[in-house]
Amino acid sequence: MQRFVSQIIRRLKTTSPTLPFYQAHILSIGVSNKNVRPKSTGVKITEVLHIHDSQLRVVFNDNSSCDFSNIWLRDSCLCSKCVHPETRQKLVDVTSLDINIQPSKFYIKGADKLEIEWPSFGKEKKHTSVFSADWLREFLPVTTSDGHVLIQPRNNMYTRKRPQRILWNKNPIEETKVSVEYSDLMESKSVLKQTTELLLTYGIALIRGVPIKVSQTVEVGKRFAYIRESGHGVTSDIIQNPDPNAHLESTGRKLTPHTDLTYRERSPGALLLHCLHSADPNIVGHDKAGGKSLFIDGYAIAEWLRDNHPDHFNILCSTPVPFSLFDAERDRWYRAEWPIITTNKAGEIQEIHYSSISFRAPLLPVEETKPFYLAYQTFSSKITDPSMSWTLYLNPGDLAIFHNRRILHGRESFDPNKVFRFLQGCYVDWDELEALYEHLHVNV
Ligand SMILES: [Fe+2]
Ligand SMILES: [Zn+2]
Repeated sequence: MQRFVSQIIRRLKTTSPTLPFYQAHILSIGVSNKNVRPKSTGVKITEVLHIHDSQLRVVFNDNSSCDFSNIWLRDSCLCSKCVHPETRQKLVDVTSLDINIQPSKFYIKGADKLEIEWPSFGKEKKHTSVFSADWLREFLPVTTSDGHVLIQPRNNMYTRKRPQRILWNKNPIEETKVSVEYSDLMESKSVLKQTTELLLTYGIALIRGVPIKVSQTVEVGKRFAYIRESGHGVTSDIIQNPDPNAHLESTGRKLTPHTDLTYRERSPGALLLHCLHSADPNIVGHDKAGGKSLFIDGYAIAEWLRDNHPDHFNILCSTPVPFSLFDAERDRWYRAEWPIITTNKAGEIQEIHYSSISFRAPLLPVEETKPFYLAYQTFSSKITDPSMSWTLYLNPGDLAIFHNRRILHGRESFDPNKVFRFLQGCYVDWDELEALYEHLHVNV
C-alpha cells in the first residue's frame, strides 16, 4: 500500500522553483465552494507590469509571478455583471469583447487585489474588474516531473475537490474498512459523505444490510445520483439462465475481470451490484461451489505497468482499442474505441477500459501489432495475479458500489446445480458522485 501511495505522490512532484511540491499537490486536489470564502493565504501583490500590448505580469510577495493575457483577464471578470451569482454561469459575451483589449488603468489595491479598468468597445461599456491575489496566484503554472506544464486553480469553476486517492491490492483492501450500513447510509448525510469519500479514495464501497428485495439496487443508487439506464434497462439481473445461448453472465462460467460497457460511447461511471442470493458455502452449504466476486484496482495495475514496463504503458495509453457488442435482442451493434489506459495532462491515470469479451483485435500497422499484444498480455497478467485481487463472497444484503472505469470486477466460476446466485445491478454516472462528495464536503 505505502508503495502505491508514494508512487502517486512521486508523480505529482513538481519541478517549479516557485511552487513546492506539496503545494502543487494541494492544487491538484483542493478547491473552495461558492458558499465558503477561501481563507486568505496572505499572498500579496508587489508589482503589476505591463509586459506588452496584450499581457500583464503579476508579481507576488514570494517572488513568484504569473503572466495573464488581457483578453483572458477581461473574460474572467468575477463581478455580478459578468457572472450569475447563483449558477455562476457567464453573463459576459466573450464574442463581443475586443480581442486586443488593454486596460485603461490598473493598480494594486490594499496589497492583495488587482483592480483593472477596461475601456468601452462596441456595445460593451467601460468596466472594472477586481481580482484577489489569492485567486490570481492559483493560475501559476507548475511543471510536473515529466515536463508537463499545468495550471490547476483551486477554485470550483475549474477544479473539483477530491480526497487523495489510495491505490490498493489484496492485503491493504482486506484490512481497510470500506463498508457502511444501509440504514445509516439512507438516514445520515454524514454516512453518505463517508461513502462518497470511500468511493473517491478507493474506488469501491460495500453497503451491508440492504433489504433483500428486487430493485433495491435502484433505491440505493438514487441516494447518490440519477440512475443511468443501459441496454439492459434500469437494472441488469445476473442470474442463472438455462438457455444455452444465454449471456455469459447468466451461466456459472468464470467472468474474467473487466469494466462494463466498454463498447458504449461512454461507459457508465459507477456500477452498483446488489446480492439477493449468495454462493457463500456458509449460506448454501456446498463447499467449493465457487462463485466468489472479485474486484481489482485498475489504477494500481496501470501504475505497476508504468513503473515496470514503461514502453508497454505508453502503448496501452496511446492505442485505440475497438470494443463492440451485438445486442441480439434489439438487433443492433454497439461499438466504441478506447485506449486501455487513459491519463490526464499530469500523467495521472484517469480511466481503464478493459473487457476481454468485448475487445476486438486492434487495427494497427503490422509492425505495431505484436508490441501491442505484448503490452496487453503483460497488463493482463498482472490483473490475474491473485495478490492484486480482492476476492469475497457477496452475501444477501451486500451491495458493492464501485468506479467502473477504475475497478475491474469479475466472478469465479460456480456450479449452477449446487448454488443459486443472483445479483442485481444498476449504473450511475461518476461525476454525480464527485459532485455529491464536493457538495457534502462543504455542507455536512
Ligand atoms: Fe460486469
Ligand atoms: Zn465584470
